[in-house]
Order: sequence, then C-alpha cells, then structure tokens
Amino acid sequence: MTKQDTTVCIIGSINMDMTITTKQLPAKGETVIGGEFITYPGGKGANQAVAAARLGSAVKLIGAVGDDVFGTSLLNGLQGEGINLDGVRVKAGCSTGVANIILSEHDNRIIVAPGANTYVTPKLIDQNIEAITTSDVILMQLEIPIETVEYVTNIAVKEKIPVILNPAPYQKLSANLLNNLTYITPNALEARELKLDTDCLEIDDKLIVTKGSEGVEYKGRCYPASVVEVKDTTGAGDTFNGALAAFISKGIPLSEAIPKANIAAAISVTKEGAQTGMPSLAEVLNFNTEVH
Ligand code: RIB
Repeated sequence: MTKQDTTVCIIGSINMDMTITTKQLPAKGETVIGGEFITYPGGKGANQAVAAARLGSAVKLIGAVGDDVFGTSLLNGLQGEGINLDGVRVKAGCSTGVANIILSEHDNRIIVAPGANTYVTPKLIDQNIEAITTSDVILMQLEIPIETVEYVTNIAVKEKIPVILNPAPYQKLSANLLNNLTYITPNALEARELKLDTDCLEIDDKLIVTKGSEGVEYKGRCYPASVVEVKDTTGAGDTFNGALAAFISKGIPLSEAIPKANIAAAISVTKEGAQTGMPSLAEVLNFNTEVH
C-alpha cells in the first residue's frame, strides 16, 4: 500500500534554457554555424519539480527568479503544472538564471549563469520553514548556494525528513552534509569526483548513480535503462530525481522506485527540451519496456 497526499519539497534553481543544436562544436577562437535556437523552461530545481508534479505529487518549490520576462514566463509555466510557488522569491533588479545549452553528438553541454538562483539563501529557507518541515521528502541540487543545502539538511535531520541531493553541478560536499543526506544521486562523472573526495567515508549505501543509457546503479545492482529513440537528454537526470522523490514520498521501496524513475527518465529523452517529455504516472505505468 502506498501513502496518499504526500508532499515533495524541492529547493533549487529555475532557469531559462537557451538551446542551440549543432553538428560541429567550435574550437577555442573558432565560430561555427549551428542549427536551430530554441528557449525552453529549465533549471534543475524547476525540472525536478515538474517531473514530480506530472507523476501526481503535491510539490512545493523554493527558489528565486528575477523581475524580468524570463522569470514571469517560467513562473507561469510552473503554476500551470500545479506546483506551489509560495516559496519562490522574485528578486527586483536581478536577472533570472539562464542556461546556455549546446546539443551535439546526442548529448548536452551546459553553462549556467545563476542570476537570481544565488538568492536562494538560508534566510529564504527561514521564511518558508513550514513548507520544509511539513514535507515528506526534500530534494535539492547544487545550482543554489551550498550553504543553503547544508542549512536545509540540518533542519531535515532534526525533523526526520529524508533528503535527496542531486550533486549537480558537482562541488565538494562536507563530511557533515554527506553524513546527513539520505540519498545522493550523482551521474557517472559526478560519482567519480565524489568518490575521489570521499575515499575514506562510508557513503556507498546512499549512492544512487545515474549512468544514462547504462541505467542506474545502487548498492552494486544495475537497473538497466530502456532503449528509446533519443531526441534530447537535457533534463533526463532531473526527471529521474523528481520521479524518485515522488515515489519515495509515497513509501514505495527503492527496488521499485528506481526502475519506475528510470522509465520516467527514458520517456523524457524522447522529446526536445528538459520538461517537454516528462511523463504522467499513467505513461510510466503503461510503458512497455519490451517494445522500446
Ligand atoms: O539538468 C538540466 C538543466 O541544467 C537545464 O534545464 C539547465 O537549466 C541546467 O540547470
């Protein structure tokens, strides 16, 4: 039996993604002519919030945007997904976060200008403390200040709320943070750096490593990825994380939550843009792994 009416609290970035497709990547000092340019809603925090909301979770997002057209458009989109935005600050005189994304060779390269995301501070957390203490699961990433991640995790430990950290983009994590996190969900590159930084710490039981088309590894077991036609991998990890948080909040064991979140991520890469392909719960449950 799974729990009903659970809440996922996501604290993280909200960006406008500026995506260019190109066959040829420029070398240093070189200009190349690329393909299409499209803007998509993005940001790891916002993407994970949309992934969890589409799967039927009640989602509260704590974040920040600037008072510009990107901020307004992104908040409208998130509101349309039914996400509670009471914890999102609109910072006057500040730009909304922007991600410059190059799509090439079936993968993405991303540079983020964080803008308003740097205002996701411990003070903003204090202003939204109830949203945090009344949630069933907390999910964060590292496009917001790490001191905020540490601050929230300390609160969560006292309140006995599980915390998932998607350590992207990678930064070194303190021993206190590593100790207090419930699960850490790096991709293969981030996992390599994390292991180098934590060689004598016992974190293997917390590590859920996403490896793209090679699936997900947890406690030495590999959960394979479904084979699908890949259009855009941007946001695949975010879909996995949002889905994982949604399933864990409902009390679904990891042995079921990981393969289901894996399916959600596989479906998400079949459409362009981070959020466009994120599936509903029905799409995940009806997905036939044999056919794809
Ligand atoms: O994980 C993908 C996301 O990373 C993009 O949407 C971009 O905004 C960056 O935050």
